[in-house]
Amino acid sequence: MSNKKINELFDFTSQTVVITGGLMGIGWGIAERFAEAGANIVIADINETGETKTKKLNDEYNIKAVFIKTDVSSEEDVKNLITQTEKQFSKINIFINDAGIFPLSPVLGMSLDFWEKVQAVNLRGVFLCCREAAKSMIKNGGGNIINIASVDALHPSMAGLAAYDASKHGVWGFTKNLALELAKEKIRVNAIAPGGIRTEGVEEMSHGATKAAENPEAPQEAPMDVPMKRMGEPDEIATVALFLASDASSYMTGSIIVADGGMLLK
Ligand SMILES: NC(=O)c1ccc[n+]([C@@H]2O[C@H](COP(=O)([O-])OP(=O)(O)OC[C@H]3O[C@@H](n4cnc5c(N)ncnc54)[C@H](O)[C@@H]3O)[C@@H](O)[C@H]2O)c1
Repeated sequence: MSNKKINELFDFTSQTVVITGGLMGIGWGIAERFAEAGANIVIADINETGETKTKKLNDEYNIKAVFIKTDVSSEEDVKNLITQTEKQFSKINIFINDAGIFPLSPVLGMSLDFWEKVQAVNLRGVFLCCREAAKSMIKNGGGNIINIASVDALHPSMAGLAAYDASKHGVWGFTKNLALELAKEKIRVNAIAPGGIRTEGVEEMSHGATKAAENPEAPQEAPMDVPMKRMGEPDEIATVALFLASDASSYMTGSIIVADGGMLLK
């Protein structure tokens, strides 16, 4: 339970937040909101171009932000991420698993490499990051883990995403069981299920889908109709992450919050 005043609930001053996949899309939206809320930020991303983005956070929000190049599917990289973060900030309060890929392929034409790659980034990555982050949090008496799943963790949004849907169903199952395991350690573990969010990755995927639609063997189904008649913005997931990381959600663990403009109602 929290005795904090309403304005204190979203004050993350001097807390350390690690965000995988934080250089663009939803992850970057999350990084900006936590920086605004006073947190120190670690962006862990496979992309090389992290320094300019972290400088922007440092300059605009007067917090400490660092970039640690990390491939979440690599055990060595994830261990290094935790070690480097502990060195620079001494502790991890909040760990957000956002890094993910969503390439399209029908199952009948899917190579084993394709399947393994999607599971390696989306599911193995979440496992490795959660395991290492939790070990670190236990040393400091607790923490908070948020996994960015998807509406596809609950229901398919379009054909061609079978590998992705398997990985995201896995993330949701893993989140629940980990929440069970870590409750006694004062670590809450929750998930967010975004619907269609306007990001660089989705833009790229839409180009791919347009090209694939010219191929008669490609999946022809359009994405589900959205009752709110628009895509979401990264910030509309970032504010849900703030809620889950804050004491405003102090009795929640093993939960999933759907933020999808009503997509799953259809
Ligand atoms: N955008 C959506 O509509 C949507 C919907 C539901 C769920 N999601 C989930 O949200 C997360 C972010 O999606 P997005 O649309 O912002 O994606 P995005 O492609 O715009 O950004 C993803 C980020 O993850 C990084 N990344 C990719 N592979 C990585 C790896 N192996 N290690 C570390 N970093 C890696 C990329 O460099 C990039 O910065 C993903 O897990 C995705 O599945 C997105």
